[in-house]
Amino acid sequence: MTASTTAPTTGPTTGPTTGPATAGKLAEMASALAADPSDWLWRVRLNPDGRWYERLHQDEDYEVWLISWLPGQSTGLHDHGGSRGAFAVALGELEEDDLGGTRHVGTGQTRAFGPDYIHDVRNTSTAPAVSVHVYSPPLSVMNRYERTDSGLKLLAEERAEQW
Ligand SMILES: [Fe+2]
Repeated sequence: MTASTTAPTTGPTTGPTTGPATAGKLAEMASALAADPSDWLWRVRLNPDGRWYERLHQDEDYEVWLISWLPGQSTGLHDHGGSRGAFAVALGELEEDDLGGTRHVGTGQTRAFGPDYIHDVRNTSTAPAVSVHVYSPPLSVMNRYERTDSGLKLLAEERAEQW
């Protein structure tokens, strides 16, 4: 994936004070950030070669990513290596498939998940979308999967050094 990662210059003011955050707290943080584009709107880029993303904040307890999605761009099925997380759609709309079904996640909506969660997030709309993602603890590994007739098949393991 193409991406830029820069030193954190902004971050949520509502972050956890100590230790990993609950999924509910992460949802609150993602929602608050998505609702205040003055902190990040100027950073957003659109990349026709793949989702654009930038880390807005990282400390030992959590990290925040900003992601843009052009129509048709998607993550593919993945987990979060044991981290909890949440994402909020700030602009546009996304679709999420969590193996149990597919749901629309519109502007202002937030999804939160626990450490064993697997999903595919994609922009199936005809307009760009921007979302804010918060993970706790910070992502160290993400496993990628594909569906097969006999269940999920592990495709690849990505480590934090790769993104
Ligand atoms: Fe994810």
